[in-house]
Amino acid sequence: MRRPFVAGNWKMNLNQAEAVKLVRELAEELKSNAVEVGVCPPFVYLTSVAVAIGDAEIRLGAQDVYFESNGAFTGEISCQMLQDVCCEYVILGHSERRHVIGETDQLIHRKLQAVINSGLKPILCVGETIEQRDAGRTEKVVQEQLAGGLGDLSAAQLGNLVIAYEPVWAIGTGRNATPDQAQDVHRFIRGWLTQKFGPQFAQSVRIQYGGSVKPSNAGELMAQTDIDGALVGGASLKAADFLGIIRATAQAKGL
Ligand code: PGA
Repeated sequence: MRRPFVAGNWKMNLNQAEAVKLVRELAEELKSNAVEVGVCPPFVYLTSVAVAIGDAEIRLGAQDVYFESNGAFTGEISCQMLQDVCCEYVILGHSERRHVIGETDQLIHRKLQAVINSGLKPILCVGETIEQRDAGRTEKVVQEQLAGGLGDLSAAQLGNLVIAYEPVWAIGTGRNATPDQAQDVHRFIRGWLTQKFGPQFAQSVRIQYGGSVKPSNAGELMAQTDIDGALVGGASLKAADFLGIIRATAQAKGL
């Protein structure tokens, strides 16, 4: 069985004191969990959050990375730097990076390669805009983002891959995909992985859902067969809400 994975994407929020307070509140409740739990703070708070995690079972992730390992790349952060501050996961290709910053599948692929080579674990985000959905292009868009992001990497190289399906129209809007809408795309993604890499690999990959996940809707989303956890934005900024999502996930998966 795939272990569900709930990760908080804090985006560009909180100050250092708030970040530490939030993770301390989580750490008190998360000593050992059936659900894997992670937090992805802004780069500058990674170290203080790592210290505040202490011996709690909370993974640390970054929201992005650059593909070079060091050198004259002003403003960028390497995989090695992330490992130096205890990161285990890296979010790649988040829709805000694709649509606000302008990241392409090609760039995301280079980052994914660097992440894999370093031993960090990628969370590759894919998802369609409302215009693409309304035009019936959801599967085509998701397939292109998967193919572009993963490139010609092999199943063996992608052993730690996590995918996050995040419909752009559901992110930060309060309008989540219905469980059926989400399950349809998750099933499509697993089918695509099966065709490309075979059933054994496809069955092992965790596919998170992201987009306005809250304690009140997490249970019915997480009850879907191909939904293996959540990538949570807004609701991960409040300990009670994030813990509520983790509990709803455990319950939905019978853990
Ligand atoms: P949201 O963000 O939960 O605030 O919709 C999700 C995400 O962007 O990962």
